Amino acid sequence: MKNIINVLVVNGPNLNLLGTREVDIYGNTKLSNLIENMQKKSKKNNISLHHIQSNAEHVLIDNIHKAKDNQIDYIIINPAAFTHTSIAIRDALIAVNIPFIEVHISNIFSREQFRSHSWLSDISQGVISGLGIDGYYWALKTISNRLKYKFELK
Ligand code: DQA
Repeated sequence: MKNIINVLVVNGPNLNLLGTREVDIYGNTKLSNLIENMQKKSKKNNISLHHIQSNAEHVLIDNIHKAKDNQIDYIIINPAAFTHTSIAIRDALIAVNIPFIEVHISNIFSREQFRSHSWLSDISQGVISGLGIDGYYWALKTISNRLKYKFELK
């Protein structure tokens, strides 16, 4: 039976500025604090949490490819602006065939029209949008629930 779940958190462009960027929309928690807290929660739940943030599309894609070799069980991805533009990230996620949850800090449906379309949502396990950084924790909780159940069955 598997006893450690490997989760990769992928954060797209400009999310390195979390905490200082448009705080009225994205809040004032820094990315480093968010990941630190996710690490703490993960440890308690037998999850090994890996994280990549990049402003470059190809770096995100390379890390999604590597996720297969690194035996990542689940991906939490906030593709940021690439959500609305990147067929390449969509193809990478299809290629590795790792289940993923799409997270957005803001409610992409209540903002500019161009943010309402995502190239990933229809191939995701689910989308969390508009719950602030809590969305990342909800995604983690869902993964923990789902995979514990799955692995205990084996
Ligand atoms: C975002 C929403 C995107 O539209 C935007 O480009 C981002 C962040 C969010 O987390 O709300 O950079 O993905």
